[in-house]
Amino acid sequence: MKSHWLQFLIAACLIHLTSAQTTCKCLSFQPCWPSASDFSNLASRLSQPLIRPTPPASACYPPSHPSGDCTDVLAHLDDGPWHDNLPGAMQSINFENFTFDNETINACHYNTTLGYPCDQGNIPIIGVDARTVGDIQAGVSFAAKHNLKLVIKNTGHDYLGRSMTRGGFMLWTHNLKNITYNECFVQDGAPSNSPTYQALTLGAGGWILGGGHSPLSPSYGLVIDNVLQFTLVLASGEHVTANAYQNEDLFWALRGGGGGTFQWLPFTSFSLSVNFSTPDIVQNVTTEYFAMLPELSNAGWGGFAFMPQGKLLARFFASNESLVQGNATFSSFLASAQAAVPNPQDFGVFPESFPSFYDAYLAFFNVTGQVGGTNEFVSRLVSLEIAKDQPEKVSKAALGVSNGVTFIFVAGGAVSRANPDSAGLNPAWREALGLLVSDAASDLEVLDTVSPNSGTYFNEASLYEKDFKTTFFGSHYAQLNNDDLFLVAEGVGSDDWDKSLICRL
Ligand SMILES: *[C@@H]1O[C@H](CO)[C@@H](O)[C@H](O)[C@H]1NC(C)=O
Ligand SMILES: *[C@@H]1O[C@H](CO)[C@@H](O)[C@H](O)[C@H]1NC(C)=O
Ligand SMILES: *[C@@H]1O[C@H](CO)[C@@H](O)[C@H](O)[C@H]1NC(C)=O
Ligand SMILES: *[C@@H]1O[C@H](CO)[C@@H](O)[C@H](O)[C@H]1NC(C)=O
Ligand SMILES: *[C@@H]1O[C@H](CO)[C@@H](O)[C@H](O)[C@H]1NC(C)=O
Ligand SMILES: *[C@@H]1O[C@H](CO)[C@@H](O)[C@H](O)[C@H]1NC(C)=O
Ligand SMILES: *[C@@H]1O[C@H](CO)[C@@H](O)[C@H](O)[C@H]1NC(C)=O
Ligand SMILES: *[C@@H]1O[C@H](CO)[C@@H](O)[C@H](O)[C@H]1NC(C)=O
Ligand SMILES: *[C@@H]1O[C@H](CO)[C@@H](O)[C@H](O)[C@H]1NC(C)=O
Repeated sequence: MKSHWLQFLIAACLIHLTSAQTTCKCLSFQPCWPSASDFSNLASRLSQPLIRPTPPASACYPPSHPSGDCTDVLAHLDDGPWHDNLPGAMQSINFENFTFDNETINACHYNTTLGYPCDQGNIPIIGVDARTVGDIQAGVSFAAKHNLKLVIKNTGHDYLGRSMTRGGFMLWTHNLKNITYNECFVQDGAPSNSPTYQALTLGAGGWILGGGHSPLSPSYGLVIDNVLQFTLVLASGEHVTANAYQNEDLFWALRGGGGGTFQWLPFTSFSLSVNFSTPDIVQNVTTEYFAMLPELSNAGWGGFAFMPQGKLLARFFASNESLVQGNATFSSFLASAQAAVPNPQDFGVFPESFPSFYDAYLAFFNVTGQVGGTNEFVSRLVSLEIAKDQPEKVSKAALGVSNGVTFIFVAGGAVSRANPDSAGLNPAWREALGLLVSDAASDLEVLDTVSPNSGTYFNEASLYEKDFKTTFFGSHYAQLNNDDLFLVAEGVGSDDWDKSLICRL
């Protein structure tokens, strides 16, 4: 039986293909936009009706007589899955806005008392609800034929607003939800004595193209280190397979190497909450925190930490660990940190064990309250080597961040053991311990001091990088190519286009 680990249905970039004949893309408010009969022709080739994404807040207009359930919209503003199910909604709502060069905002405001009209903003007015390979092929070919600004929107957060463009044409892949399991998967074209894998086939998007980190990465590697095969639609509309045996250059550009196994393993979390009374104690405990992480990542632990003024809130996760092992792992850090913090009430430790990752996932991640705000970040990967040799330098950089830093501890361990050249991924990842994130552009300078080659994870980064080629792709940029269809801000080839990616320079 033929199957695929990843039914990777769209390439957001990185494909060698045709080049453009025209200078500018055609937008929905221009005369070149396809006619109603062009769209009905397209609709006849799709498994679903065309979608017409609208701003979520449009339900609140006109304010005197709302067209929809405005109360429901406002009640779900911080509810991630609710946003995901609407093609017109972003998790970071600032990207629903369009801002003209003269700084006028075109948007549909959630606050109706401001007195603005409800405008479409950054949201494409029409698109394809893709459920099959045929849907993707039809949408991609239509966008190419009519020279439209194609935007691909899947599920989850997009901190660079790459899945919305005012006047664009949307390919909405959110409903590609099938997941199938194959106990003895073999890659297409593999020699007859090749190993078989336990594999899942599922729809994929930007998370994977960016590398795909999680607290499990120190145990199992990034998601790209576990992909066996992609199937994808090229800008030509062609449906192809990329793996270690065919389209190897595409496979390299899309990911890395390796194979995964899936087991029901116990899962342990360790949460830590510390209130600091003096700057010296902050520095001490934060230094001890970073000093312990390289070793922890080798033992398969990952996690997150948030360091607002005067506090450290950290959570660690490990699969296949018991509480006894967990307690042993953290004992020397806890002893030193507790010795440094004079008041025992300032120090909280909460170990918890779960029968599986999924139970821990439900406990910690199936939550509301993390979306519906406005987001813009700067970020840098933190060097594993510097954390090992000069943890104090890392803690100084982290504590030097203006509004409190977030540390995403998702590298080291298995991520650092993969060959950096096995994948198109920025090689800085393989030298990293995790990602420092701040919301203030002025913090980049201090973050750069502890970063391998000033590299970062491009899905959680600034829209205004000075040198995105190096920062996002490192030495691998030169080996990556793009066509003129799958363009995104600060993506491969984007610097051949104006800042809105509408006109070729
Ligand atoms: C800003 O630019 C837009 C688009 O050109 C225009 O429609 C709008 O009237 C301008 N606003 C102001 C205040 O000049
Ligand atoms: C538009 O963006 C601005 C700034 O990012 C934000 O203050 C405002 O709330 C946004 N408006 C909407 C409707 O999201
Ligand atoms: C909505 O805008 C009004 C007028 O500027 C302001 O007084 C009010 O606080 C805003 N409401 C919210 C929920 O932001
Ligand atoms: C998804 O799975 C269902 C049920 O197994 C099947 O009927 C459908 O054809 C699948 N869709 C795709 C796009 O593979
Ligand atoms: C889980 O831990 C047990 C005992 O420490 C070990 O024997 C086993 O190999 C581990 N399994 C995995 C998948 O790491
Ligand atoms: C782990 O440590 C906590 C305190 O840090 C303690 O309350 C708990 O009993 C320990 N659990 C095991 C299984 O050792
Ligand atoms: C932090 O304080 C503890 C207890 O006083 C001490 O053992 C440890 O060496 C200090 N660590 C650093 C990095 O200053
Ligand atoms: C720290 O301070 C917060 C209030 O800011 C309090 O809720 C918490 O219980 C304190 N202690 C710990 C260990 O977090
Ligand atoms: C996740 O949380 C939502 C909202 O609280 C709840 O309705 C849903 O059942 C939860 N999902 C699972 C799988 O428990």
